[in-house]
Amino acid sequence: MAHKKIGIMTTGGDCSGLNTVIQRIVDGCVRRKWDVVGIKDGTDGLCCTPAKTVDLTDESFPFASAHLAGSILSNGHAGAENFISAARVGKLSAFNKKLKKALQNLKLDALILIGGNGSLSLAHMYREIYSDLQLIAIPKTIDMDVPSTDKTIGFDTAVQQLVSYCDQLLLTARSHHRWFVVQTMGRDCGELALNAGVAIGADAILIPEIKFDVNNLVKHIKQSKRDYGIIMVSEGISIRGHSGKPADMISRALNNANIPNRTAFPEHIQRAGDTVASDRILAAGFADTALKAIENNETYVMTVVQNDEYKTISLTDFFNAGKQQKDPHIKGVMTSNRYVEPDNILLQIATDMGIYIGEKHK
Ligand code: F6P
Repeated sequence: MAHKKIGIMTTGGDCSGLNTVIQRIVDGCVRRKWDVVGIKDGTDGLCCTPAKTVDLTDESFPFASAHLAGSILSNGHAGAENFISAARVGKLSAFNKKLKKALQNLKLDALILIGGNGSLSLAHMYREIYSDLQLIAIPKTIDMDVPSTDKTIGFDTAVQQLVSYCDQLLLTARSHHRWFVVQTMGRDCGELALNAGVAIGADAILIPEIKFDVNNLVKHIKQSKRDYGIIMVSEGISIRGHSGKPADMISRALNNANIPNRTAFPEHIQRAGDTVASDRILAAGFADTALKAIENNETYVMTVVQNDEYKTISLTDFFNAGKQQKDPHIKGVMTSNRYVEPDNILLQIATDMGIYIGEKHK
């Protein structure tokens, strides 16, 4: 097997499972006798002179820590040099050239880019940056908004984090006969709230994809057989005429109807937590698929799992499969997004279980 030098970079928000997938890639490289370097701090570290890298070996990255959340490579910091900051000062094209040069200097045969839909869409759009090496992308995000793959790294752990969090809230909710309005992350995709809500048996789940009526929500809670429970609210929902945090808006409506309640914001706890088994299996599957793609001389591809089958698809197919929308941060850039579709089986299950999920798919 020809010797190779592989780079790994994590970009965008972190999530649990990043360390597992990095460790499994390192393991696969060590077995193949390939060199593998980690690029620290995403594009910010890549742009440094010299680039901030770390040689990844069995010794430098202890196997026993691979289940811990965060990324040993880090994902950048506020004020970091990245596509968004370069676009803000009108220097996107110079930034792209800088990245290309930095990758050339590292003399990599392949780069494994672990990112969310924003990073993957940018890789599709600015493919020229990676023209001197093989680019293999691995999807990760707690939002589960990447088209073409049934799962993204970090999602299942985020759901488990919400479940554990709500399990605790329910105990105090019962003591005080009151409701908790829990606001989840997920941007404008409702998958996280929907999955966690069904898992804990929430009384209501509100997601951006489905229109809801506050009066019907109030009626539903008043008719509940219990006097405590969880109303799961995705951060992407909105109510006409109201501003502020979605959980606060719902809480106000419940207060107006004399339904005792409190809000709860699990925030970045959703991106932490020891990586659950299914995310570790996904990490192993994606690492294996990515390394095989390198051996097969593939490039501009992304690992996916579809109906339990692990494979690669082109970044173009990924991009075309989703709903394309303007990148909220970078003018002229489109991102490809996935949302909760009307045929999502959890919508039916939630309805059958008597969970209020709103009125009509948008
Ligand atoms: O995309 C991941 C995510 O955690 C979203 O769910 C959330 O809206 C956002 O990132 C939070 O970003 P930050 O860590 O910059 O506050």
